[in-house]
Amino acid sequence: MTTMESLIGLVNRIQRACTSLGDYGGGDNTFSSLWEALPSVAVVGGQSSGKSSVLESIVGRDFLPRGSGIVTRRPLVLQLHKTDDGSQEYAEFLHLPKRRFTDFAMVRKEIQDETDRITGRTKQISPVPIHLSIYSPNVVNLTLIDLPGLTKVAVEGQPESIVEDIEGMVRTYVEKPNCIILAISPANQDIATSDAIKLAREVDPSGDRTFGVLTKLDLMDKGTNALDVLEGRSYRLQHPWVGIVNRSQADINKNVDMIVARRKEREYFATSPDYGHLSSKMGSEYLAKLLSKHLETVIRARIPSITSLINKSIDELESEMDHLGRPVAVDAGVSGVILKRPGGDRIYGVFDNQLPAALRKLP
Ligand code: GDP
Ligand code: NA
Ligand code: MG
Repeated sequence: MTTMESLIGLVNRIQRACTSLGDYGGGDNTFSSLWEALPSVAVVGGQSSGKSSVLESIVGRDFLPRGSGIVTRRPLVLQLHKTDDGSQEYAEFLHLPKRRFTDFAMVRKEIQDETDRITGRTKQISPVPIHLSIYSPNVVNLTLIDLPGLTKVAVEGQPESIVEDIEGMVRTYVEKPNCIILAISPANQDIATSDAIKLAREVDPSGDRTFGVLTKLDLMDKGTNALDVLEGRSYRLQHPWVGIVNRSQADINKNVDMIVARRKEREYFATSPDYGHLSSKMGSEYLAKLLSKHLETVIRARIPSITSLINKSIDELESEMDHLGRPVAVDAGVSGVILKRPGGDRIYGVFDNQLPAALRKLP
């Protein structure tokens, strides 16, 4: 591993530790500021624009629920960890820490089941994220966030507020200055109507942290092409646009696998009369490399501030412990901890992977 790869790996582990401490999102303590100081990549776009499909191709694995209509109904925070060659790929959910998934069809099922556990089998959404880690020699170290698609109207079974609820939820991720935005627009719709570009432009007017991704190039009307968008003439961003050809619904139904899909995508660009000259800078593999490179630059620039935040977290935790007492014994049977206060009395606290929060709740 290069130093930079291991650095991104370290950042991933810190994010995971912060998450286990139960202090991510909301709150204004050091853990949430640390979480927010670390870069991640969020996919944004209209419903069925191809967000989940793009994430799957970046990962190179079939594991996300995809399809028409509202399929992604909770945020999915996905951490990719690059492992040494030869090791077997597996996935792990934060809510099921003891279970290693090697069958990615089961990962998809668990995402569906865990979504339903919070929202019921409805078309409702929930802002409570699902945390998933994938360990594989074939990925680049990245944290990716899959989000519900932006919509214009509520459908049967959804409250009227759903349009604003989804936008509000997506906004909480993309407005963070350290969020890299993967703005997904389908090529078979006018770019001027793109929900992704509209929101990205609002939260990132300079376009510094927005990557424009154009999906469904294969579905454009015959005789038209997307060169104006891909070559930056329609809507200019700081980073180059990347065109993508994901699997169609027919491919999904036929279980066309990822390797075949990637090869077909490469062939599509290599043989395309319109995009042949751009083929080395198109496709999901190129997008993954581009993102990883960008992430490295961002992390390199932030090392000093991340380091000082980590030190601050450690200091805060220490002083919290000094104040409340130090653990003298851990009773694993009931997930509790016995603390000794500075005064000498012993108190008992319960924790459930949320030590700092539990400490605060003690008398
Ligand atoms: P999401 O709602 O934005 O997450 O979109 P999905 O990834 O679930 O995709 C929605 C539908 O569009 C699925 O049926 C996909 O097969 C299809 N789709 C996505 N991208 C492409 C593409 O590049 N080409 C084709 N032909 N179909 C695509
Ligand atoms: Na969809
Ligand atoms: Mg989706």
